[in-house]
Amino acid sequence: MHSRLRFVLPLFALAVLSATTALAQSPVAQTPPMGWNSWNFFADKVTDKDIRGAADQLVATGMKDAGYIYVNIDDTWEDKRDANGVLQTNAKFPNMKALADYVHSKGLKIGIYSGPGNKTCGGYTASLGHEEQDAKMYAEWGFDYLKYDLCSFIPDVMQKQAPNDKAAQMKLMIAAYEKMGKALKDATAKTGRPIVFSLCQYGWDSVWEWAPQLGGNLWRTTGDIDPHWDRIYAIASQQSGLEKYAGPGHWNDPDMLEVGNGKLTLAENRTHFSWWAMLAAPLLAGNDLPNMKPAIKAILTNKDVIAIDQDSLGKQGKHAYSDGEVEVWTRELQGGALAIAVINVGSDRLSTHPFHLDLARIGLGSEQTGKNLWTGKTVTLTNNEPIELPSHDILLVRLDHPQS
Ligand code: GLA
Repeated sequence: MHSRLRFVLPLFALAVLSATTALAQSPVAQTPPMGWNSWNFFADKVTDKDIRGAADQLVATGMKDAGYIYVNIDDTWEDKRDANGVLQTNAKFPNMKALADYVHSKGLKIGIYSGPGNKTCGGYTASLGHEEQDAKMYAEWGFDYLKYDLCSFIPDVMQKQAPNDKAAQMKLMIAAYEKMGKALKDATAKTGRPIVFSLCQYGWDSVWEWAPQLGGNLWRTTGDIDPHWDRIYAIASQQSGLEKYAGPGHWNDPDMLEVGNGKLTLAENRTHFSWWAMLAAPLLAGNDLPNMKPAIKAILTNKDVIAIDQDSLGKQGKHAYSDGEVEVWTRELQGGALAIAVINVGSDRLSTHPFHLDLARIGLGSEQTGKNLWTGKTVTLTNNEPIELPSHDILLVRLDHPQS
């Protein structure tokens, strides 16, 4: 070997190694993951073309710049396994590696979906008995995120191996998630590509208590969302009390966003988005990006609201108090700042239920100045002043310097 090469090569190898190690060690999900997922709008119709289209739109609409980075393929990409157990993609997804390369070429990341049972929720092939093989394949394709959905693991394994024994069933479930968590870690060690691990088992068995230890970066806390106010409200209410389990690298996941879907009113879209931000929830849009209305884009790209969600302190907001049909939630932010959300969860305009914000009940002095994050204007809150809110609308205020 040429003597100069003999000197340069090890240096080069060292540089590659340290770059790979740095990548492998760079922690993921230090703030709640943001992106888009195919399920809420496309469900089982999603194709390679839709995923490319979503990536294009994230860039074109400014959503990428606002922080939406993950483009996640949900269920229905899978076909059968070949003779070597390698899972094949179906005709809707002719070439996953090429698709991942395309999404990466836009400066975005890409996610995929599977589950610990024989079948996914949509009845497609899942990972039981092939966990390492599948994790390795996702990493080789270039995937950055895995949503792992319990579904048929319940009848396939839990009910079969431990009928009528809830404690044993829970152990089996935890072991299944642990197995995939480890498989992803091993795949990352080989490829240097960190993979966000999203647990989807609908918030059973206090998942928030055990998911972080086995590598979970987020875990669903409830059953599925749908684009109706009642469901969004029910899910948001169920998050109260879970705040202590969230933090950098590990988040409660009240399910993907329905902003822009169904017949939600603008107030409902605004409140849904704001509430998820207060909850430090992952912000995974699930709407039809190519046909997004300007008002929906304005909601999804509201930088001030996103900054609440992505606040580096990573402290999930909490329910402070309710008064009639009005709820007050607060979230502590970096640098001593505070976000206050006042939400009319009732079906009437508030003139029929005058609401008076009691600042003392949220530990504040009688006058506060901050920013109304939906009007962008400076606002002064005075103790017990009446606040008018249309049904299902929100007043979201950021106080950079709360006064006690
Ligand atoms: C479950 C999940 C949904 C979605 C579907 C796909 O219902 O909770 O988010 O992934 O499966 O089949």
